[in-house]
Amino acid sequence: MQSGEANQRIARISAHLHPSNHQMEESSILKRAECRAKGGAPGFKVAILGAAGGIGQPLSLLMKMNPLVSVLHLYDVVNTPGVTADISHMDTGAVVKGFLGQQQLENALTGMDLIIIPAGVPRKPGMTRDDLFKINAGIVKILCEGIAKCCPNAIVNLISNPVNSTVPIAAEVFKKAGTYDPKKLLGVTMLDVVRANTFVAEVLGVDPREVDVPVVGGHSGVTILPLLSQVKPPCSFTAEETEYLTRRIQDGGTEVVQAKAGAGSATLSMAYAAVKFADACLRGLKGGAGIVECAFVSSQVTELPFFASKVRLGRAGAEEIYQLGPLNEYERVGLEKAKKELAESIQKGISFIRK
Ligand SMILES: NC(=O)c1ccc[n+]([C@@H]2O[C@H](COP(=O)([O-])OP(=O)(O)OC[C@H]3O[C@@H](n4cnc5c(N)ncnc54)[C@H](O)[C@@H]3O)[C@@H](O)[C@H]2O)c1
Repeated sequence: MQSGEANQRIARISAHLHPSNHQMEESSILKRAECRAKGGAPGFKVAILGAAGGIGQPLSLLMKMNPLVSVLHLYDVVNTPGVTADISHMDTGAVVKGFLGQQQLENALTGMDLIIIPAGVPRKPGMTRDDLFKINAGIVKILCEGIAKCCPNAIVNLISNPVNSTVPIAAEVFKKAGTYDPKKLLGVTMLDVVRANTFVAEVLGVDPREVDVPVVGGHSGVTILPLLSQVKPPCSFTAEETEYLTRRIQDGGTEVVQAKAGAGSATLSMAYAAVKFADACLRGLKGGAGIVECAFVSSQVTELPFFASKVRLGRAGAEEIYQLGPLNEYERVGLEKAKKELAESIQKGISFIRK
């Protein structure tokens, strides 16, 4: 055996005996990662920013299982070494690398096709999503500045709340940097759709996988507008059922915040919803046809600059944005309420950057 090879084997064995320190990028484990990378499956490169959090961890786990992902970068300001070591042992195709702290943000982002952002603080009982604004607005700004610099062509899935304001913030950051592509910035409202499908299925007594409820508007309180008149398969609801379902879908997040009693907001169902949405984006990037999901995007569907509605996902991101379709009287009233609150939240986001 050549001495170079022998040295490599010794280095690999000693890397197992003396696990890496927290400087993930620098350690001798790096060589092992490179070895594994050669065996990685072909696919997309995905980064999760806020990967060590309540949403970030199950989201990282589920993305590691996604066969469309070849490289998975996990970035956070805390605890990524542990999360990365843990998830990297899963025998799925994606190669996982961890990045810790802002000095490693650029390496985490470079070359990525899709960025998923669940970074930020979650709600506690009594807080609205808007109360999170100050902290999360600053976090989203920093992360988007990094994206503009290192992977301006990547699709961005923004989860950090308040989505109604953080998406306009991200748009302003990208505009300032000259990299804004409205098709590639998507606020994740999939959890509202997931909840709507579940609650409607409960009322109808059917399997939620057979139900598709469009949810439009935004992602907070009355801005969440389920279009129960457009549920598939076609069905009808009494006025009482409509009121119950609309309220429950709008307050779904608060239901979880209260049940968790101070321990945060939805994380597991959110991770599921985020992966469902990210998977749709990746299938779109791959050239798949007829991929339609709801998302909060730059829009001309109403007079507001951003609005959630059904979008068709393709190679360029949200390639087509669908009109709302016929609304009933209950939904028309809901739409007016939603637009009023949305307008303020959008303006708040824009002003945060333009101030
Ligand atoms: N879009 C939705 O439907 C939806 C649903 C639920 C929660 N959320 C939002 O998602 C966010 C995360 O929720 P969570 O429960 O996972 O919170 P969490 O506190 O458990 O995790 C957030 C993670 O973000 C990290 N973080 C903080 N600052 C960062 C920075 N500058 N760069 C990178 N990472 C950073 C933290 O270290 C932490 O690991 C919150 O804003 C929450 O309101 C959105």
